[in-house]
Amino acid sequence: MHPLDPLGAEEIRAAAAIVRAQSGLDGTAWFETISLDEPTREELAAGSLPRRAYVCCYERSSNRTFRGVVHLGEERLASWEHVPGAQARIGPEEFEDGDKIAKSDPRFVEALAKRGITDLDSVLIEPWAAGHFGIAGEDGQRIAYGHCWVCNEAGDNRYGRPIGNLHPVIDLAARKLVRVDDFGVIPLPPDTAAIRPEEGLRTDIRPLEITQPEGPSFEVDGYAVRWQKWRVRIGFNVREGLVLHEIGYEDGGRLRPIMHRASMAEMVVPYANPMGGQFRRNAFDTGEYGIGALLDSLKLGCDCLGHIRYFDVCAHDWNGDPWPIENAVCMHEEDFGILWKHTDTHTGKARAVRSRRLVISSICTIGNYVYGFFWYFYQDGTIGVEVKATGIPFPSALGEGETPEWGGLVAPGIVSDVHQHCFSFRFDMCVDGPGNSVSEVNFEKLPRGPGNLHGNAAKAVERPLASELAAQREMDLATSRYWKVSSAARRNGLGQPTAYRLQPGMNTLPLLDPDAPVARRAAFMFKHFWATRHARDELYPAGWFPNQHPGGDGLPRWTTRDAPLTDTDIVAWYTLNFSHLPRPEDWPVQPVVYANFHWMPEGFFDQNPALDVPPAGRERG
Ligand code: NI
Repeated sequence: MHPLDPLGAEEIRAAAAIVRAQSGLDGTAWFETISLDEPTREELAAGSLPRRAYVCCYERSSNRTFRGVVHLGEERLASWEHVPGAQARIGPEEFEDGDKIAKSDPRFVEALAKRGITDLDSVLIEPWAAGHFGIAGEDGQRIAYGHCWVCNEAGDNRYGRPIGNLHPVIDLAARKLVRVDDFGVIPLPPDTAAIRPEEGLRTDIRPLEITQPEGPSFEVDGYAVRWQKWRVRIGFNVREGLVLHEIGYEDGGRLRPIMHRASMAEMVVPYANPMGGQFRRNAFDTGEYGIGALLDSLKLGCDCLGHIRYFDVCAHDWNGDPWPIENAVCMHEEDFGILWKHTDTHTGKARAVRSRRLVISSICTIGNYVYGFFWYFYQDGTIGVEVKATGIPFPSALGEGETPEWGGLVAPGIVSDVHQHCFSFRFDMCVDGPGNSVSEVNFEKLPRGPGNLHGNAAKAVERPLASELAAQREMDLATSRYWKVSSAARRNGLGQPTAYRLQPGMNTLPLLDPDAPVARRAAFMFKHFWATRHARDELYPAGWFPNQHPGGDGLPRWTTRDAPLTDTDIVAWYTLNFSHLPRPEDWPVQPVVYANFHWMPEGFFDQNPALDVPPAGRERG
């Protein structure tokens, strides 16, 4: 076992037993997180590597959240603390619990009856994290704000018929309904939501087969992967899901480190409807619910072709019992069209080289929505990160005669509101070693004048981002801005510092007012780029406990120290935002929306590192 391998079933079981026996928690306590307490770089280098578990528990009787570290070998709690004011994430079981709590209260049953709904089994209530809106009676309580739907006739879409204007407010600690927010009856929209038709399927699709007669080009040893000079380790935890460790590239017989750790560390989806109870709708899927706990087992359907290698991981339930997810991570190779080409028109000689990429991915189903997180490794040294968003766009009911002011009409009587998807990716960098520096590059045009007679003068200007406050940056369309993490020690054959460039892709700025309650809790989304000096506990950009948190934690808090970012251990953070107005074509299930960005080598190599990729097929000339 490697020290960065995710916890196995027996380790999870042992960690839970040690906490139960030694923490003093009572029988109402449940396990929010049991995950690997990752060894530090120093511990990894020293080779003394005890297995430790990070454990977070919620004790319902006292409405308190605790966390600590379990030393698995010595079967003891290495640390344990109450975290004042913190609310643990809402786990999958608590989600189900909230549904039951609302349905067992006559006030809610009556509100359904007013709408002609009597079959409680057909109703789905999702108790969403309540956020922090300064509403009386919520502070310090464990509150969830419910959204409700009726399942469609075909039984394949539990979100098929939204119940308008009805929101049960649930106290998850007291296990009781606080109140019902009822903003007036709206008729149930017609049933248009069947997702898996059996009839009328197209019949003109012929087989398209990917064959790899000699097998894949990757090698796997446990969770370690080697492919086309790349090295990477696959990791997992119940909060972030897929984590990549120790990303490096073999170059001239040496393994050159690039990233120590990479993950999608937090995300939020704020919705833009200010009316009724809709303003409360925002989802920190990582920090409030846990992406990793909700990964699909790709046994049940994987979208990949070719030779696929799956990795199993182990999550856990709220009792602390292991909850294995078979085939949670998918890895395969993909043909990716042309890598490079040159034709010598004088001699007629040409070389065309095809690109292939290694794809490491996992897919999370969280309520109505589905997120795929895809990591790509290319033969030219590029690393790609892509989010694939699919599933059912959040449906709400539209009152008769109402126009969909805050969203798009997707089906008769069904509106899906404007929203944004905002992801924060964390990259613990080590470009050619731990001493890295951060800079920004802008393409700047020069004013016309004696030195620029023809008005064409422009330069790519690189400036250091010397400290954490200076390194909070937005994209700039006019200057094609990008960011770089460079080695402070190593130079390429041209005398330039070896570096990786963070190349933004599709992105936008938040629609939220910067002082809005959700914005204060998700300040990360207001800057596309952040860089911090590495600190062991600084993993999550909205803090460790965003559930019902008033805000200000994470990146905005850490960076007030304004640590220098020259020749140090750098963590780079990239925010990927996109705005979304669902269309009729997104109903009842949305074709994938893609959003991506890349890390590209910039002077990391002396020349095109893919010059040695052999040409595909017959070479002409
Ligand atoms: Ni969306």
